Amino acid sequence: MSSQKRLETASNVLELRLRVRLWRNKGDRIALVPTMGALHEGHLALVKAAKVKAERVVVSIFVNPAQFAPHEDFSRYPRDLAKDRAMLELQGVTDLIYAPEGRDMYAQGFATRVSVDGPARGLETDFRPHFFSGVATVVAKLFLQCAPDFAFFGEKDYQQLLVVKRLARDLDIPLEVIGVPTIREADGLALSSRNAYLQPEQRKIAACLNRALRAAGDAARAGTPIPQAESEATAALLNAGFDRVDYIAIRDAETLAPLHSLDRPARVLAAARTGAVRLIDNMAL
Ligand code: PAF
Repeated sequence: MSSQKRLETASNVLELRLRVRLWRNKGDRIALVPTMGALHEGHLALVKAAKVKAERVVVSIFVNPAQFAPHEDFSRYPRDLAKDRAMLELQGVTDLIYAPEGRDMYAQGFATRVSVDGPARGLETDFRPHFFSGVATVVAKLFLQCAPDFAFFGEKDYQQLLVVKRLARDLDIPLEVIGVPTIREADGLALSSRNAYLQPEQRKIAACLNRALRAAGDAARAGTPIPQAESEATAALLNAGFDRVDYIAIRDAETLAPLHSLDRPARVLAAARTGAVRLIDNMAL
């Protein structure tokens, strides 16, 4: 059973750096788990994996305005720091919550934005063009603020994971970015903070996303041409009640480049909407 301990919170970068310096002086290794809060079992899996690699685990909680477009859900994104803290305390492996204020992360006059290409090309970017540069900007800041040895990201946001790996590599940020497998509900739905938006009818529809990924993968593996496997899975999602399918795509698992055949490690990725709720998921093939 996990032992419960009172969790400290750093609410600005100075407090964070002070704490991290004390740990470093003792020779402790540090893992960062960046989150936007609304924590669930998927986040707890990241924290658990972090504790295996490092003596100290920092969980950052910051709903990053830079990764939301004006029409997106920034203002209604679920925020409950007390609940997040209670979950982490119950789990008992986090050493520090870093929960900066918006004005500390993006001070008056903030004028820098990290621009990303490579794995950021296509898929999510076709529908959320602002997204990865917003993620890269905040993640670069978090890496520089915390200077961790390891950073943990969920494979559920697979394209984001590749973008963050590339960011660390291209900018020579000395840390290891580690991906952690997706945690799912019993019916296959990937855990996501946005699942909280789903009404009961939408929740049933949502479970079909993972089934469609599986079906596309099975079809491609059985020899169905990739474009046909993708379009059959799209039709299945629309049939199941999704209102819009942004993409369902079988891609090279390293570069996310389109594939003509399954002659190398591949990933099938999808994004679809039910009402105003946009869900994403992916699986290794
Ligand atoms: O995946 C998320 O929760 C966010 O995109 C991240 C990585 C914490 C950056 O705000």
